[in-house]
Amino acid sequence: TTTPVNVTVTGAAGQIGYALLFRIASGQLLGPDTPVKLRLLEIPQGVKAAEGTAMELDDCAFPLLAGIDIFDDPKQGFEGANVALLVGARPRSKGMERGDLLEANGGIFGPQGEAINAGAADDIRVLVVGNPANTNALIAQQHAPDVPAERFTAMTRLDHNRALSQLASKTGAPVSAIKNLTIWGNHSATQYPDIFHATVDGKNAAELVDQSWLESDFIPTVAKRGAAIIEARGASSAASAANAAIDHVHDWVNGTADDSWTSAAIVSDGSYGVPEGLISSFPVRAKGGKWEIVQGLEISEFSRGKIDASVNELVEERDAVKELGLV
Ligand code: NAI
Repeated sequence: TTTPVNVTVTGAAGQIGYALLFRIASGQLLGPDTPVKLRLLEIPQGVKAAEGTAMELDDCAFPLLAGIDIFDDPKQGFEGANVALLVGARPRSKGMERGDLLEANGGIFGPQGEAINAGAADDIRVLVVGNPANTNALIAQQHAPDVPAERFTAMTRLDHNRALSQLASKTGAPVSAIKNLTIWGNHSATQYPDIFHATVDGKNAAELVDQSWLESDFIPTVAKRGAAIIEARGASSAASAANAAIDHVHDWVNGTADDSWTSAAIVSDGSYGVPEGLISSFPVRAKGGKWEIVQGLEISEFSRGKIDASVNELVEERDAVKELGLV
């Protein structure tokens, strides 16, 4: 028997939490041979609902689920954590300015970063889902000086999966036929879904579609999909967001296939002109438990402009949280 892996999930009583926890407990996060212990972190008002979810998790009798603990204190919630999924965040309310949003989230992700620094396991891997995800991840990372920066990541896998699905339906190919698609930049409306290096059944994707579809349909559809889901469902994406979180961590731990890459927001090493230290989405492969940025891709002028616009937004967010004293 293997020692269970401690997985901390924040915002456990929320809608993504509800879609996520059962899949983690069933073995889909880390694989069918790895038992997990869940550590659910909520705010005090969310604890009772988290207890209800824990009752349902018990009632699934998952063979891999080795225990569930519920906390409202970050120090305890991250104690011994090997994997941390930071889902809980402060949403933007009506009339809230960006500065207020960043400040409210700084109050969450700063202390969580400190708690990770103080008590998480040496191999801790962090995925931030809660928005604004890239900058929340940066705030947490900056509060965890003893943890290698590369262990803090933010989720653009949902954007990646949305782009795969849109391109598949346009070309009539199954998603499995598509390789090497990239989301660049921020998980926001400025993100750039790039198909210029992608292939569909081995053929260059950009040559299979026309530029007007790319610019007026594909890019805005992917970037605004979150709003379209809210409009249709009356609630924001939850199961698809949970699915993407599972994909991200599963690939990070178990590795990506050799013949393709995926997208994740990771700490920049300066590749592709993205300022060092920003948590920005790149084309990535995972090997030996580490993300690696795919190097040497030719970037057209069109792509350059789109990447720069999104990266500039990340720079602005970083400058704003610096000014607020949050990093
Ligand atoms: P939700 O509102 O249903 O749940 C959020 C939960 O977080 C609530 O139970 C709340 O009590 C809890 N929470 C708030 N502050 C907390 C704290 N300091 N510590 C622990 N728990 C805390 O929201 P939902 O739908 O589950 O979404 C969660 C986040 O994920 C949102 O920020 C949303 O914008 C983001 N999101 C990100 C996506 C991405 O692709 N990166 C996709 C979809 C959603």
